[in-house]
Amino acid sequence: MADFNTLDDFDFNSKSVLLRVDINCPLNQKTLEVEDDNRIRQVLPTLKELLSKGAKVAILAHQGRPGDWDFVPLDKHAQILTSLLGKEVRYVDDIFGEEAVTAIRSLPPGEAIVLKNVRELPYEQDKKTMEEHAKSELVVKLAPLFDVFVNDAFGAAHRPHCSLIGFAAALPSAAGRLMEKELQALKTVFENPARPSVFILGGAKFSESIKVVDRVLGKRIADWVILVGVTGNAFLKARGVKLGEPSEKFLEMTPEDLEAAKKVLLEKGERIILPLDVAIEIDCRRRDILVGDLPQDHPVLDIGKGSMDKFARVINGAGTVFMSGPAGMVEKDLFGEGTKELMLAATSSRAYTVLGGGHTAGAAEKFKLLKKFSYVSTGGGALETYLLGKPLPVVEALKAAHGRKCPPK
Ligand code: 3PG
Ligand code: MG
Repeated sequence: MADFNTLDDFDFNSKSVLLRVDINCPLNQKTLEVEDDNRIRQVLPTLKELLSKGAKVAILAHQGRPGDWDFVPLDKHAQILTSLLGKEVRYVDDIFGEEAVTAIRSLPPGEAIVLKNVRELPYEQDKKTMEEHAKSELVVKLAPLFDVFVNDAFGAAHRPHCSLIGFAAALPSAAGRLMEKELQALKTVFENPARPSVFILGGAKFSESIKVVDRVLGKRIADWVILVGVTGNAFLKARGVKLGEPSEKFLEMTPEDLEAAKKVLLEKGERIILPLDVAIEIDCRRRDILVGDLPQDHPVLDIGKGSMDKFARVINGAGTVFMSGPAGMVEKDLFGEGTKELMLAATSSRAYTVLGGGHTAGAAEKFKLLKKFSYVSTGGGALETYLLGKPLPVVEALKAAHGRKCPPK
């Protein structure tokens, strides 16, 4: 038995559905247009299914945070949904006032609307329990208008916010198809991976990666961990390599992080694979140098060719590959090579491959390799929370709603 309800557990014909999604997208800072609509695309299967089953759907979502430049209304998101769906998804500039209530009540079966950015509500981002959030004006006013709450907001699953968990205490609730797919992919990697399982961790968030390495090797989730990018540099430093002033400055590793990385290396080092060479930039050209030739006065910007070959051999023999975070500065063409080669190795292997983190997915898209991964996660913070083994409040709320006797209306 599943831990939570899915769309299979309800009859949606002529039912009013409140659908919470995460379509929080990167915007262009000048035009405020949506720059990457991947998260909007990823909620289409759930929306299409609900509409084709005759549901009346009101979509609730957020974009940015109050005070931030990317905190904008959702009219453009509704336009994108309209063009992707080929059917009008009207934007309603209200959440639970008269305009919203009228729009929700007059929705015909098979139609959807998008409500106003829910982070307009000052209490939306309060961290409370689902029962506490259920007492908010948002839930008290909206819940009676709906038959079912569907949560497909995996990208925000780590936030115990009002609209994300409060409705699960007030309405029969189900996970959407994206939520299901994300959790299934993570379950495959974390609970039942084909062996050997290889984790490739890169990017700049080394402090978190230290904990993730410790966990996935300690729990035998991963058989090997390959460390690249700034994370790789942090571990090279912990191994005693002097990176050179520019890289050290960028790293800003605290004594605590250094100690933690040293401890992980000491206890689990034989399962950790680090770069043997790195790339630096001299006179606008890429130069690969052996780690033994560090320190340098130029920052480390990528892994070297020798490392790419060494890592590719490990990846080729893998049953599962989880990759999160780039291997180098992918924004610079010369230094995207490491990331590209690792992605090529992963996608041409027989392994089940999962790619995480928005930045890494953007790089895969650039290298035209995105579609070759078995699964690409829409989660940033949610994925990090999962990697650290912490519970996801949205998933916990869906589980609680599943356990509660709440007869479908
Ligand atoms: C995200 O993109 O991380 C989610 O949409 C949650 O948004 P937040 O990080 O602003 O809470
Ligand atoms: Mg975030």
